[in-house]
Amino acid sequence: MIAKTVLITGCSKGIGKATAIRFADAGWRVYAGVRDLRSAQFSHPNIVVVQIDVGSPGSIHRCFHLLKGKIDVVVNNAGFGLWGPLESYTEQELEEQVKVNILGAARVTRASLAYLAPKATIVNVASVVGHIGMPYYSMYAATKFAIVGMSESLSLEFAPKGIRVKLVEPGAVKTEFFHASQPNDSFGKRLHAYYTKAFAEGDDPLAIAELILRAATDEKDTFAYRPKRARRILALAKYLPSELVRRQLRKRFMQGRLLMGGSSLLVWKSNLRRILRSITCRSSTRGLFCKRMRR
Ligand SMILES: NC(=O)c1ccc[n+]([C@@H]2O[C@H](COP(=O)([O-])OP(=O)(O)OC[C@H]3O[C@@H](n4cnc5c(N)ncnc54)[C@H](OP(=O)(O)O)[C@@H]3O)[C@@H](O)[C@H]2O)c1
Repeated sequence: MIAKTVLITGCSKGIGKATAIRFADAGWRVYAGVRDLRSAQFSHPNIVVVQIDVGSPGSIHRCFHLLKGKIDVVVNNAGFGLWGPLESYTEQELEEQVKVNILGAARVTRASLAYLAPKATIVNVASVVGHIGMPYYSMYAATKFAIVGMSESLSLEFAPKGIRVKLVEPGAVKTEFFHASQPNDSFGKRLHAYYTKAFAEGDDPLAIAELILRAATDEKDTFAYRPKRARRILALAKYLPSELVRRQLRKRFMQGRLLMGGSSLLVWKSNLRRILRSITCRSSTRGLFCKRMRR
């Protein structure tokens, strides 16, 4: 017997597709949302493909009207990332980025309220760049910062309704997400090489699908779910002073010493050790404060 129902947006490929299959394999009834019905290739008996363009309020409402029964989980996964210098984006691209990544998730969440089962869960797919801005991803990062803020707010706002709101925050994942052509200038070329390598060495979409299933099903009060590498990077970024994090990133991107994955973690760790050596933490009556020691 099929126990629960999930609606997932952006299922034509990548993380969304892997997530649809993972939920279906776990016995869920899956509404796999795609923009274009011709792009859906599922043969799983638990998966029903539905048309939903999250950039269109009309399409969102039409989709919900067609669903049968209550929805236990909504996964706001659909999204894309403009890549390049800010000045290269057209007005239309800027608006599309906000419309799909932020307003899309807000509108799908809002429309879902009338269809949710008791104790439902909303899972929003954000990103490491929802906490650390990265060059050439300015508008994309802006949308993911927004998703983090929206999710935090809604996790409190929906609590009286018994609806849980959770975040899944991947780092780089091996999907078709990054497909920019190479720029001509040296900074652009360096960044292009950096991102190409990062995505090629990124996590498998199946690992993110597993994390989304966990976020949807665990009984814990955990708010943000991150794969191991993202967890480490965000922990370092959280505990290091933000000026230092940005200085470090600037140095790496400007000087071309672009390190990823394990090697970048070693550099961050050695920096952390150096900083910790030069800092003493003391308690005061006002709370804990840290003071850099004079050399
Ligand atoms: N890949 C990464 O490294 C990474 C890291 C962190 C977070 N994420 C996030 O994970 C999510 C999925 O990304 P992905 O890596 O799986 O990318 P992907 O392979 O490019 O897949 C993106 C999906 O979103 C859909 N989509 C785009 N615009 C849409 C719209 N207006 N309405 C409905 N669906 C739309 C696409 O459908 P079409 O086929 O119709 O375009 C596709 O199914 C995104 O929110 C992304 O920001 C990805």
